[in-house]
Formats: sequence, structure tokens, C-alpha cells
Amino acid sequence: MQNVMKLPIALVTGLFFGLGSVAAQAHGDVTPHPIDTTGLKPLGKDWVEPNPYRGDAKAVAIGAVGYYHNCAACHGLNAVSGGMAPDLLASGKDCLDMESKDQQASCMKDNDDYFKTVVMEGKKNSEGRVTMPAYDKVFTQEAVWAVKAYIDKRTAEDHDK
Ligand code: HEC
Repeated sequence: MQNVMKLPIALVTGLFFGLGSVAAQAHGDVTPHPIDTTGLKPLGKDWVEPNPYRGDAKAVAIGAVGYYHNCAACHGLNAVSGGMAPDLLASGKDCLDMESKDQQASCMKDNDDYFKTVVMEGKKNSEGRVTMPAYDKVFTQEAVWAVKAYIDKRTAEDHDK
């Protein structure tokens, strides 16, 4: 009987500490971290649009790591939103639903521009509280487009499944 009673306590304790470490990790992950984009074509000082890295496997891989460290805590692992922050795949899927390739391309360009602006500048709510952190202090243009290349890859995967 004693052994049976001990088991749930061990489970509850484990769960408690388990959750504690997840919370600590999520806390660390919302601090902007630079992304090492070594190996990607340098883009220079002026913004290049649309995303020059779309479809580039190396950029997607670098962007996936950058996303994991910077964005996943709020926007969800693998860019699957848990409802805490907006679904980052939705607007790209709307673009892919458009009929012509020209429409899709121009929609994706607008989508890139919006992404870049929100990521670099962040967002505040009407009371001035930061809802989405700004990354302009730590991200290069290469970092922004690598993360977007990853988001675009995930968008296409989700759209076509
Ligand atoms: C601390 C949580 C948090 C982190 C970290 C975070 N975001 Fe956000 N993000 C938000 C919230 C909340 C919003 C909605 C803000 C609003 O509308 O006021 C948002 C909005 C956005 C939007 C606009 C979405 C839309 O549909 O309008 C984009 C794009 C975005 N985030 C990308 C990113 C990327 C890329 C990263 C990582 C580099 C990131 N976010 C990191 C919380 C976060």
C-alpha cells in the first residue's frame, strides 16, 4: 500500500519540476538572440525584397534554428500556433490560395514586407505594452529572411498536406 501511495507523489513532483524547467526555458527564449547566418549569400545594407532566400535549403535550415531560439516560445514549435501569438502560416496560405502565379508572388512580397517590419520593429498594444518584441538590435537582414524562408517552407508544407 505504501509503495502505491509513493508513486503518485513521485509523478506529481516530477511534473512540478518538469513544468518549472519548461517555464524557465520559455522565459529565456523570448529574449532576442542573434542568428549565425554564415554560409548564406550576404545581402548588404539595403533591404532586398521579395525574400531572396525563399526556397533556399540552407537558409531554411538556419531559419529553423533561429525560429526555435527566438520565436517558438510564443508562436509555437514548428510554427504551429498554440493560440498565445498569431499563427504565422495563415497569411502565406492565403497567398498560395490565389489563382495566378503573379498574384501569389505579389501577395508573398507584401507578406515579406509586413513580416520584416513586424519582426524588426515589434508591436505594442493600445496601452503601449510590448506584445511582440523588436529584433532590430540583434537581427541582420540575412537573419530576418532566413527565418522567413523557414516560415515559407512550413507554410507550403501545411498548405499542401
Ligand atoms: C513574447 C512572445 C513573442 C515572441 C518571442 C515573438 N512574437 Fe511575434 N507576435 C507576438 C504577439 C503577441 C503578436 C501579436 C501582436 C499584436 O498584434 O499586438 C505577434 C505578431 C507577430 C507577427 C504579425 C502576425 C500577424 O498575423 O499580424 C509576426 C510576423 C511575428 N509576430 C513574427 C515573429 C517572429 C518571426 C518571431 C521570432 C523572430 C516572433 N514573432 C517572436 C508574440 C511574440
